[in-house]
Amino acid sequence: MRVVVTGGAGFIGMHSVTALLAAGHTVLVIDDMRHRSSGELPAAADCVEADVATHAARDAVARFRPGAVLHLAAQGGVNRSWRDPVSDARCNVLGTVSVLRAAADSGATRFVLASSGGALYGDARRLPSHEDDIAAPRSPYGTAKLAAEAYLRLFTAGARMSGCALRYGNVYGPGQDGTGEAGVVAITCTRLLRGDAPEIRGDGAQTRDFVFAPDVAAANALALSSGATGAYNIATGAETPVCDVVSMLTSASGVEQHPVYVDAVHDEVRRSCLDTSRARAALGWHAATSLQTGLSATYDSFRGAAAAA
Ligand SMILES: NC(=O)c1ccc[n+]([C@@H]2O[C@H](COP(=O)([O-])OP(=O)(O)OC[C@H]3O[C@@H](n4cnc5c(N)ncnc54)[C@H](O)[C@@H]3O)[C@@H](O)[C@H]2O)c1
Repeated sequence: MRVVVTGGAGFIGMHSVTALLAAGHTVLVIDDMRHRSSGELPAAADCVEADVATHAARDAVARFRPGAVLHLAAQGGVNRSWRDPVSDARCNVLGTVSVLRAAADSGATRFVLASSGGALYGDARRLPSHEDDIAAPRSPYGTAKLAAEAYLRLFTAGARMSGCALRYGNVYGPGQDGTGEAGVVAITCTRLLRGDAPEIRGDGAQTRDFVFAPDVAAANALALSSGATGAYNIATGAETPVCDVVSMLTSASGVEQHPVYVDAVHDEVRRSCLDTSRARAALGWHAATSLQTGLSATYDSFRGAAAAA
């Protein structure tokens, strides 16, 4: 299959492009490199450097004539979406509409949208959150993802193109940016390797559903090849306090470091955990990697990258 991956130079994008190439697909990455991963994009993937909302990106899709599009390109920071909700909506809503139109015009028959289970359900009344639960995002970022899902339904209703939204949990793994304000696993690895004490925002009892990036990449590949429609949670179904993750990474580092507690993020979702039974039934997917294994592999990769730098 010929697959366009928008945001393919980013963290989840790199894992997804690697998985798609390994499965024998031909891949075109469209990415403006505003937040590219530190990893090398595989040489077998072609790449066009462009903002997804531009004519250059739409022309690239038209020339490539993809069978399927994996739309990952997005502004991914919840805090940043509060600081600049207009830019967030421009990238995450208008960018998505632009890619949907380019995909439909080019004759693509399949579209997979990266959505967010962590941001969409808000403070859920019951856990784990199920796809049919009411979405109640508490940030411009989550609201933009909800709007993007609505546009996906609109562009795929009755059209030749089918599509689904994958609502990821808290994705972690090699290649994630550890220098920003999101991604507790990457940030903690980076701090530990610098010899800094790990930081915990708030009391650390806030929970997340942590899922390993190569498992998410496998879900993306399965969804692209399937005819599944609607929304699917892509996570583990397990709820883990942030302080436990910090403690597991500190153990993996082999250095005794006590965490420092800093101010909680304003209006942060307190608990997050996603029911993944629908993805298992429709895509035959489940998260294959345990948290312990994934965190150790992630810490080792950050250590390798730090040693090579
Ligand atoms: N990382 C997570 O925990 C998580 C959780 C839920 C959903 N998601 C979603 O998964 C997708 C990928 O996330 P990620 O963690 O890999 O983010 P990332 O920031 O590492 O990657 C995004 C990539 O998209 C590119 N990009 C951004 N805006 C663009 C634009 N307008 N035009 C072209 N390229 C653009 C960036 O340069 C970057 O390479 C995003 O849609 C994100 O919202 C991520």
